[in-house]
Amino acid sequence: MANIIGAITTSHIPAIANAMANGLEETPYWKPFFDGYPPVRDWLNEKKPDVIILFYNDHGLEFFIDKKPTFAMGVADEYYNSDEGWGIPTIPPVTGESDLSWHIANSLVDEGFDMTICQEMKVDHGLTVPLNLMWPGHKYGHVKVIPVCINCEQYPMPQPWRTFELGKAIGRAVASYEKDLNVVVFGTGGMSHQLDGERAGFINRAFDLDCLDKLVSDPEALTKYTNIDLVEQGGAQAVELNMLIAMRGTLLGKVTELHRNYHAPISNTGSGLMLLEHEMPK
Ligand code: DHB
Ligand code: FE
Repeated sequence: MANIIGAITTSHIPAIANAMANGLEETPYWKPFFDGYPPVRDWLNEKKPDVIILFYNDHGLEFFIDKKPTFAMGVADEYYNSDEGWGIPTIPPVTGESDLSWHIANSLVDEGFDMTICQEMKVDHGLTVPLNLMWPGHKYGHVKVIPVCINCEQYPMPQPWRTFELGKAIGRAVASYEKDLNVVVFGTGGMSHQLDGERAGFINRAFDLDCLDKLVSDPEALTKYTNIDLVEQGGAQAVELNMLIAMRGTLLGKVTELHRNYHAPISNTGSGLMLLEHEMPK
């Protein structure tokens, strides 16, 4: 049986890739952010997951605003990145896990989630930056990645209650897969941030910290928020919290927090790194 052995929330902003490419990790600006990562990297190197299910939002590389699937997922054996205009290094291909991807896709559609199923899919910084953060130097080729993409750019967007349900359904799908695989789930993005408009630069630390607490012990409380609540509390792009909420949905057993590092601002965002484990189904 496949098992979700843990879950990770992390920022995905392109500035991280530039900081890493330019060796800025120890500079005063970046150090408090990067200092959070070694325990999570160590945990990944010890647990050696076979598969990462990665919730992210596509910022326009694969799905521009003319065509926006509410929920999309990849079922390919390989995924490519290309220049998004952020000046960050283009990364080597990401390895896929086609068989488990199809199992999850079938299970989700059977449960009523009308996924857009992608046999080819370019993956943007929402996916690539977190992978490189966890395996610096782009050393993630041994890990198989299943990209799950949630619309956070173009209204109407799925609400937190729905993204949480999507996560739960993916948790059930993984548990019903017969092959022995260890799976870790990433929720990337957020937390509070607003990139343009009157409140550009807006960050709400208290809200972010409360969301991190609730992700651990009371995720249902997060599902009571609407996307407009998230925008009011955390800025226009705080809707990216939906990826963290979806990630939390996959953890079906009692959850323990192993590590946390909150730091703000980093570029325009509040960054919440968290490592969670849960009581796995027997
Ligand atoms: C930034 C934040 C994002 O969520 C993103 O996708 C790109 C950039 C930023 O704050 O720089
Ligand atoms: Fe983003």
